[in-house]
Amino acid sequence: MSHSSPSPAGAGGSRMPSSSASSPPLEGPALDRVTVTPFAEADRAAVYRAIETRRDVRAEFLPDPIDPALLRRLLEAAHRAPSVGFMQPWNFVVVRDPATRSRVHAAFTSAHAAEAALFQGDRAARYRALKLEGLREAPVHVVVTCDRDRCGPVVLGRSADPATDLYSCVCAVQNLWLAARAEGIGVGWVSILDKGRARAILGIPEAIEIVAYLCLGKVDQAFASPELEQRGWRARLPLDDLIFEDGWGRPAPVPLGRSARSSDVDDGVAVGVEAPPAGRAVEQADDRQTG
Ligand SMILES: Cc1cc2nc3c(=O)[nH]c(=O)nc-3n(C[C@H](O)[C@H](O)[C@H](O)COP(=O)(O)O)c2cc1C
Repeated sequence: MSHSSPSPAGAGGSRMPSSSASSPPLEGPALDRVTVTPFAEADRAAVYRAIETRRDVRAEFLPDPIDPALLRRLLEAAHRAPSVGFMQPWNFVVVRDPATRSRVHAAFTSAHAAEAALFQGDRAARYRALKLEGLREAPVHVVVTCDRDRCGPVVLGRSADPATDLYSCVCAVQNLWLAARAEGIGVGWVSILDKGRARAILGIPEAIEIVAYLCLGKVDQAFASPELEQRGWRARLPLDDLIFEDGWGRPAPVPLGRSARSSDVDDGVAVGVEAPPAGRAVEQADDRQTG
């Protein structure tokens, strides 16, 4: 990557000759490897902090332009994502032109109206009150696309699950999102979008899938927890309810990473991540409704 952050070797590993690796030798050139050790505590905490404090941003974008070198770092982070068969099926369409951004906003408005019609009663009114995009406020849009034909019809690893190229692009989105958090850049994912209209506005060919329409911009504040949670739309689920052991629907006898004695809790597992406070003012009944 072009910026001055430590290389993987510098951040907990050192280069080693492939001959010292434990895997059996294969035919071919010597392969380059690095040793892998845990990051230093502060570095680990920074990674978890980015994960914990990353937010979807809609209304908080500042109008300041994003430095092109910074934007490039974010796209480098995206481009470092894992991809099925190392397919790298993504492209990144950077949209800055205000007129184009406004036209894309119209592609949101129609999809938003269609989605609003799916909710009833009080929930419909609350849906309409939510701000669900920052397309005009954000100075930059990045459209992450998937070229499903990039490597021809047979892709290593995709045969059993054709959606893995799309998943790869989502990995790129998450890399970008976390790197953006570290850089003080807010990101908002706008899926409430008439993709056909967005495709036409940006001249994206039919064969190219729009995976994510992202708004980017500097922010100086963000919600401390998901806005949808704070507005009572939906609460974060307890992690322990989502973990099964040795088969679907079988909760672990002891919650993962915890033991009968609290002093045995492995605090290395979740540096900087706190359990959600109990009893927050969220309408739990809403969790069972659509959305
Ligand atoms: C695939 C995807 C699509 C999303 N689409 C929208 C959207 O159209 N509008 C919106 O306001 N938020 C959208 N979000 C953001 C989610 O609402 C948000 O991630 C969630 O409420 C949790 O909040 P947080 O990201 O701030 O932690 C989307 C997120 C994902 C992952």
